[in-house]
Amino acid sequence: MTQHQRLLIIDFGSQVTQLIARRLRELNVYCEIHPYQSLDDAALRALAPQAVILSGGPDSVTRPGSPRAPQAVFEMGVPVFGICYGQQVMMAQLGGSVEAGHHAEYGRAFVTPAPGHSGDGIFAGLFAAGREEVWMSHGDRVTALAPGFEVIGTSPNAPFAMIADPARSFYAVQFHPEVHHTPNGRVMLENFVRMAGFTGDWTMAGYRDEAIRRIREQVGGGKVICGLSGGVDSSVAAVLIHEAIGDQLTCVFVDHGLLRQGEAEEVVAMFRDAYNIPLVHADESELFLGALEGVSDPEVKRKTIGRLFIDVFQKHAAEVGGAEYLAQGTLYPDVIESVSFTGGPSVTIKSHHNVGGLPEKMGLKLVEPLRELFKDEVRALGRELGLPEKFIGRHPFPGPGLAIRCPGEITREKLEILRQADAVFIDQIRRHGLYDEIWQAFVAILPVRTVGVMGDGRTYDFACALRAVTSVDGMTADYYPFSHAFLGETATRIINEVKGINRVTYDITSKPPGTIEWE
Ligand code: XMP
Repeated sequence: MTQHQRLLIIDFGSQVTQLIARRLRELNVYCEIHPYQSLDDAALRALAPQAVILSGGPDSVTRPGSPRAPQAVFEMGVPVFGICYGQQVMMAQLGGSVEAGHHAEYGRAFVTPAPGHSGDGIFAGLFAAGREEVWMSHGDRVTALAPGFEVIGTSPNAPFAMIADPARSFYAVQFHPEVHHTPNGRVMLENFVRMAGFTGDWTMAGYRDEAIRRIREQVGGGKVICGLSGGVDSSVAAVLIHEAIGDQLTCVFVDHGLLRQGEAEEVVAMFRDAYNIPLVHADESELFLGALEGVSDPEVKRKTIGRLFIDVFQKHAAEVGGAEYLAQGTLYPDVIESVSFTGGPSVTIKSHHNVGGLPEKMGLKLVEPLRELFKDEVRALGRELGLPEKFIGRHPFPGPGLAIRCPGEITREKLEILRQADAVFIDQIRRHGLYDEIWQAFVAILPVRTVGVMGDGRTYDFACALRAVTSVDGMTADYYPFSHAFLGETATRIINEVKGINRVTYDITSKPPGTIEWE
């Protein structure tokens, strides 16, 4: 358990709850997200938060049985900040009232100060331009304030857009200060944490020392194996653990036959040669591709791969001579999503095998030194550990690899075509100096053949889709606006250089409503 000052975010299932945590981490504040139903008064007191934020959520507080915060939140004497549904929960639990429906406000709105209020407390520094631009997303609204509260700001459809009970340090807003579309949202969150006494004690150098100490404490003289994928997360986890326990760590690199071109060679060279970390290169492609034969359902693909990964790890753990621990580069977003789909309030979109699919039978204990970190924090930790920039800057690559970029049935032929097309696309992106601007880029091979004409002949080959997105954390994403010249040149190169593809499309879907991967 961390020694830092802790802020608790109670999650009511908003799609943007994680952004609250990210904004706070940027302010060097340590925070944890817990789903509302995992907390009772006792659990809350055990967490001993120094402040609490209540997130937004999809429900209506007017519905009988809708989510509530443990009442102790309001009795612990700590500052509380309610956001959207969180505001409505505060009003419902503290004696105000909320009305359902007919007040929907989605997207941009402007909040003006209530008469006599120009903003102070967590609203200090706002309204410099006379009004604040905010991002709204609500159906219900507050219609009567709880005793002790006053109105600080109003919008056309939310008369109680900003409210405060300064005596108890309770604050609430109807909009979402955590999203980029509320330009001064960060100011409100910063005012809130400073007022709550947070000193900003969460830094990467401090985290590195603490993580090393914790790994030594957990593992003692035991042996650890670490699944290496070549991605940033498992690489940083491996180097960190190696720094903590040296040769007690053996890395296992599982080649499941679903890797990109040249990937296996690169990873092995980096870890064996550059870091001198003991490494087992397990070529298990026959096993994985055999098990995936005939499988086209995305979730079955993930579960199959997740299950086999564990089997392979167990086998190699035994070979390493009695390893007791398995290290994984699990990140905080994986943890939160997994909590959510095993009982949390937000809807499951995809299962991420590195947490949710772990079978109970697995005889290894987990070491997960990145469990508290977001992706950009992992990169910062990687730099702190001296990993080469080209490794830190690598685009994320999913555990199930090319399996989820091959919608429909996976065949060796399709995988080989996909590998070649992907290599051309990434080469194009690098040649044009765009790699670092793009968060993730890849090709998906589509389960459809199309007719083309090349030379004087008819072709009947696969179509593929290029995917490239910008994102901060993979939770939301936008397609990358390549020039038509770039797209045309890339399509020509792929069709000329890759036998088996005769049509190239560009995926211009953002997330949401799409996801980044095709499956
Ligand atoms: P989606 O497709 O959910 O992807 O928008 C968000 C990020 O997660 C990666 N991803 C996965 N990573 N196992 C993983 O380890 C998975 O099953 C998985 N599915 C998606 C995806 O590549 C993107 O970076």
